[in-house]
Order: sequence, then structure tokens, then C-alpha cells
Amino acid sequence: MAAMSNRQVQATSTAEMEDLILNISMARGMDEIMAVVRHAARRLVGADGITFVLREDGLCHYADEDAISPLWKGQRFPIESCISGWAMLNREIAVIEDIYADSRIPHSAYRPTFVRSLVMVPVREDDPIGAIGAYWATQHAPSPESVDILRRIANSAAVGMTNVALINSLAAAQEEAVRAKEAIILAMASLAETRDNETGNHIRRTQHYMRALAEAARGHQAFEPELSESMVDLLYKCAPLHDIGKVGIPDNILLKPGKLDPDEFAIMKTHSELGMMAIANAQRHLGVSNCFFSLAQEIAHTHHERWDGSGYPRGLRGKNIPLAGRLMAIADVYDALVSERVYKSALPHDQAVSIMVADRGKHFDPELIDIFETIATVFQDIHRTFVDMPHGAGADAA
Ligand SMILES: [Fe+2]
Ligand SMILES: [Fe+2]
Repeated sequence: MAAMSNRQVQATSTAEMEDLILNISMARGMDEIMAVVRHAARRLVGADGITFVLREDGLCHYADEDAISPLWKGQRFPIESCISGWAMLNREIAVIEDIYADSRIPHSAYRPTFVRSLVMVPVREDDPIGAIGAYWATQHAPSPESVDILRRIANSAAVGMTNVALINSLAAAQEEAVRAKEAIILAMASLAETRDNETGNHIRRTQHYMRALAEAARGHQAFEPELSESMVDLLYKCAPLHDIGKVGIPDNILLKPGKLDPDEFAIMKTHSELGMMAIANAQRHLGVSNCFFSLAQEIAHTHHERWDGSGYPRGLRGKNIPLAGRLMAIADVYDALVSERVYKSALPHDQAVSIMVADRGKHFDPELIDIFETIATVFQDIHRTFVDMPHGAGADAA
């Protein structure tokens, strides 16, 4: 690229400069910032090459470039031995007409390149985090306008890089919050598990059935609006808490090695309300209301409701039962049927499916049970994947 006159540089720069500043301010990552600079800076200053240098501890990382022939992309040099390092350490712009007449330049690194003159501008002048270099193949004095444009590009890059750092730290904080939430869920779920004779695998399996069924239901018009991808994920995460209320059931009932009598069963049935209240309590303490807690409460509260209104605790009927509860009922009952308990042996998969299909419109949402029937082998595979130890046994409220 031939060097442009100062007038030409000025004429083309304003609109492009505005674009560049806008694009850098909208960048969400370092790569984007460097790409914007790479695409625009060379033309804006009429240079033969541009480099974007990042400060990494005591090194200058030539992270990106756009030039008529390769410069140092990907290479790292000690900060004391290169001109970008000089610009950063001195917080000063270096303007060099003839690089071979300047002792700050490591001549051996330049000899294989086209470079004869350059401008190096630190990014974030008060505490440099990088530098932008412009290079020319001819020995010439870069115009004050070009230097000024480079300085403005470097200032925009500094703002962009600060934004990216803020975005990254915000994302890290959010990720940490998500991880903490998931750890709390697991802790709560495993608490229920340790008190219950049902094995931990019941919790794991029902979680996977829930996802499989919700994903399949997503493909059906009737359910699709309620089941976004994030909702399916949320259902998967909330499912382990469905029996959290069992923590509040006395040992003699929860751990009874046999069928419960009617009084005991009445107490066992309170686990759905207890679970809902426990999760509501956790939500109150955290002082936040979010969809995770609402959905987890809904599942704990309604997974024993039945389509025909004969379930508990409220005897809800049909679609008055939240979808999450209707899905959980299928996951929970399938697992109870195909798993061994002290008072009953495990049913074969096919028999369990027939029993559930026969309960279509009685216990279960008819449309959901149809979907379940089509993917029943997926349930079978999940059960096989998370199989119980042979002696696993215990009381079950379904
Ligand atoms: Fe339950
Ligand atoms: Fe369960």
C-alpha cells in the first residue's frame, strides 16, 4: 500500500474512525477487538503493516497483525528488548523514521521484514496493557495525523479491553453463582437420599427420565410452547428435589421395610407439601425469586397428583396439574415399577410400560403417556445405565 498524503488520510479517516470506535465498543472479546483494529487501522493510517501487541507479564506478545508480508504474529519478546515494550514501559509513543538509526530497535528481529519506519502507541497510556504498531516499508516521517489516529485507536482499544475484562469477570461471577446453586441442589438432594431407603440412583434416573420425556414432548405442538430448551434443562436440574420433603418424614415410616398402613401412608403423603415448603424456605432465605425455585417447588408439590383428580395433596385434575408435575409423575412411577423394593420385586420393562399405558387418562396425562410409550426404550436404557446394587431396597411412596 502506497503511503497516503495527509489530506487523503484526513478525508478517509473520519467515517471509518467512527465505525472503528463503535465496533470496538461493541466487541465482547479480545479477538473481536483485535479483528476490528486489524481490519481498519492499516487503511486509516496508510501503513504497510499493523501489529497488536499484548503485555503478558514481562513479555510482549505480538498477538495479531495485518501486513504486506509476515511480521512477528504469535511471537513473544522480552519487554525490555522490543519497541512495543519500550512504549509500554515509558508510557510514550515511539515515532521512528529510520529504524536502523535507532538504538531502541532490535535490528536482527527487523532485518527479515519489510519495515523501515514505524509508530508504536501504548494502549491505555496511564498503565499500558498492550501496544499498537504501524509500519512502513519506506523510510519516512509518519504524519502527526497518522500518529493521532493511532493514538485514538489505542484509546478505543483500551476502553474495549476494559469492557471485555468487566464482561469476563461478570460472566465468571455468574458462573460461580450457578455452580453454587447446583451444589446446593445436590446437597439438598443427597440429604433426602441419605434418609431414604431409595438409592441415590433413583434420583439420578428420574432426573434423566425427566429430561428424556421433556425433550420428546418438546417435539409435540401441545407442549412445545411450554418447553423451551432452557426449561428442559431446568426440569432436569430441579427433578432431584422431587422427594426432598421425605427429609421431614419420621424414620419408622420412611425406613419401614414393608408396605405402609393407611395412617403411615397419610403421613408419608405429607412429603410433597413438606418439600414445597422446604424449597420455599430456601428461596426466602436467599431473598431471590427465580424460576429454578418456583419449578422445584412445583415438582415437589405436584408429582403425586393424578390426571383424574385422585392424587394428592390437592386432588388437582387434568391440566390444572402443572406440566412439571405431570412429567415427574411418569418418571417417578416408571422407576418405582422397574425397581426392586423389600416388599416387591422389580417388574420387567414391558410390563411396567403396559401398566402405565393402562393408566392413561387416569393416573397420567394421556398425551404425555403416548409420548412416553414412543420413547420407553430410552427409559429402559437409563435404568440400565444407573442400575441399583442387587440388595438395594426400601419403602417407596412412588
Ligand atoms: Fe414422592
Ligand atoms: Fe421419587
